[in-house]
Amino acid sequence: MPMRARRSDAGAPVGEEFGEGIVPAIISIESLAKSFDDGFQALKGVDLEISEGEILALLGPNGAGKTTLISIICGLVTPSAGRVTVAGHDIIADFRAARSLIGLVPQEITLEPFEKVINTVQFSRGLFGRPRNDAVIERILRSLSLWDRRNSRNRELSGGMKRRVLIAKALSHEPRVLFLDEPTAGVDVTLRREMWTVVRDLRASGVTVILTTHYIEEAEEMADRIAVIDHGKLLLVEQTAQLMRQLGRKELVLDLAVPMDAVPAGLSDYKLQLSADGMQLLYEFDGHSDRPGLAPLLADIAAAGLDLRDLSTRQSSLEEVFLTLVRDGGDAADRTGVAQ
Ligand SMILES: Nc1ncnc2c1ncn2[C@@H]1O[C@H](COP(=O)(O)OP(=O)(O)OP(=O)(O)O)[C@@H](O)[C@H]1O
Ligand SMILES: [Mg+2]
Repeated sequence: MPMRARRSDAGAPVGEEFGEGIVPAIISIESLAKSFDDGFQALKGVDLEISEGEILALLGPNGAGKTTLISIICGLVTPSAGRVTVAGHDIIADFRAARSLIGLVPQEITLEPFEKVINTVQFSRGLFGRPRNDAVIERILRSLSLWDRRNSRNRELSGGMKRRVLIAKALSHEPRVLFLDEPTAGVDVTLRREMWTVVRDLRASGVTVILTTHYIEEAEEMADRIAVIDHGKLLLVEQTAQLMRQLGRKELVLDLAVPMDAVPAGLSDYKLQLSADGMQLLYEFDGHSDRPGLAPLLADIAAAGLDLRDLSTRQSSLEEVFLTLVRDGGDAADRTGVAQ
């Protein structure tokens, strides 16, 4: 049931389609700005709506403002201007209600070294004023493959396990939204994939996940939507699938043995582009279902008597677009024609 949602002024989709029907925004960020005491502007007016049940990846270079944004939503940093609500609760006026709905896995690993895993997680739940519930804690620890290590002291765990304890802590009070600030930084490939499974399972259980990452393939793999932030501004917010469709344009490059002045009439169906020096023909063959495939093109090229020296294909990637965006700032976002 395709339903394109209305867009906010910032162009961020509101109430996107996830599974069946339109899902309301669980987090609403309006004109959010932050200047630190030294006058540094870490956020310069961010507008973003996050739908319940989605996985949103926040991409951006070091110092872009990702942690600052998350810290404001979690009540650790006071905004200078703007407004954030979590399930309708203002994060300042209604702090406790807003905070109780959020779990935060911080960028830095901070655990009491001599505390046992199970006590760490139980204590965290208590901090949120939730009554003790052994069944919930067991379910969380099992879901993160930590149950067998519940009586280990935190300092005895590997780095990957410590990260999972941080997630267990963040989930201990059964939040509806989980923030993961670089959950896979410095984590090996196997553990990273394990973390992806954890995040997907969380989403399947109805938790909204916002994660920051420096790994573009992670965003591509995990996220329903990708937001790119740099210098305190959102440069792009787009459905991952949509972004990949836009980027997934493939080009076939045909190097000609003999230069030509014009594309032969017999090849006009393909809308080929001839390079300025007449030595290359370019054929965009992806995302254009109205165009014929490669096999008929090559057959028609042979029929037209063209002599090819070489052929290759190329595809733009999310990484290229990301690099262009953060190099050129907001201008590049305008050029891609996607929301900013
Ligand atoms: N307490 C503070 N006082 C002054 N400047 C700060 C403070 N906290 C963060 N900043 C600055 O704000 C900017 C954004 O920092 P932030 O931690 O949000 O970036 P980030 O996108 O999370 O980067 P990274 O990918 O390195 O984690 C940086 O230039 C940082 O130096
Ligand atoms: Mg950070």
